Amino acid sequence: MTHAEFGIEQQFGKRLAYYISPAEVTYASYEYGGNSADIRKIARTSPESTVVNVRIQESADVDSSAIIGEGSSIWHLAQIRDEARLGSNVVVGRGAYVGSGVHVGDNSKIQNYALVYEPANLADGVFIGPAAVLTNDTFPRAINPDGGQKDVSDWDAVGVDIEQGASIGARAVCVAPVRIGAWATVAAGAVVTNDVAPHALVAGVPARRIKWVGKSGSPLELNEAGLWEDASTGDVYREKEDSDELEEVTE
Ligand SMILES: CC(C)(COP(=O)(O)OP(=O)(O)OC[C@H]1O[C@@H](n2cnc3c(N)ncnc32)[C@H](O)[C@@H]1OP(=O)(O)O)[C@@H](O)C(=O)NCCC(=O)NCCS
Repeated sequence: MTHAEFGIEQQFGKRLAYYISPAEVTYASYEYGGNSADIRKIARTSPESTVVNVRIQESADVDSSAIIGEGSSIWHLAQIRDEARLGSNVVVGRGAYVGSGVHVGDNSKIQNYALVYEPANLADGVFIGPAAVLTNDTFPRAINPDGGQKDVSDWDAVGVDIEQGASIGARAVCVAPVRIGAWATVAAGAVVTNDVAPHALVAGVPARRIKWVGKSGSPLELNEAGLWEDASTGDVYREKEDSDELEEVTE
């Protein structure tokens, strides 16, 4: 199996970051200047290559087996672990962590110092606020009962799944295993211990639903017809009779 490659090399008297992925996107190469604004693409020829626009800061730690999609930016001191798969136009902020094998969908943003532990799965357009944490170990211990240090084979990792367009507020904690529904918002500082319904706005410790939110992120308002309306998009929803969930009204 071919692996992606990422690294920095000295060429033509310049520092170059190179990135070669095994899948559909195959090759890109960049020149580093003094700061990110100076990074510019340098096309290099290769018969099957596609040059992609990937921006990876020199101080970022990107594993050679990670796949970084076109248009993505990895900022200073971020760490992208082995086999992580980032889609197109993903932004990973300073000091953020993306665990082994984590999938991050297109157009997602992971803000500074957020920790996305494996095996998290983020759909397209997910927002992870600064210093938010997605956990992966329900009953954590550094050591086994015999005092010996635990390694990865001594525990079963559990993950956080986040559906399209959902947002996790600053310093919130999503305690795995948990699913955050599409277009839901988790308020700043919340601790999520149960699944969150699509379009729910949850807050507090433990997080409880306080409102509904639309795709715009704004709270939905109850209109005269008794339906939930997003003033900025005009989208309308009704509460399902059998569950605390919304369904979109399309007619
Ligand atoms: C929840 C949030 C979206 C505000 O929504 P809102 O519709 O304006 O909410 P309101 O201000 O009307 O507050 C509704 C209630 O929730 C409470 N509340 C608001 N934010 C809260 C939070 N983060 N945690 C706990 N309770 C919160 C309010 O105190 C209020 O309680 P009350 O009814 O008892 O007075 C906002 O506070 C928030 O957390 N946004 C995320 C910000 C963020 O992390 N951004 C990341 C990029 S920096």
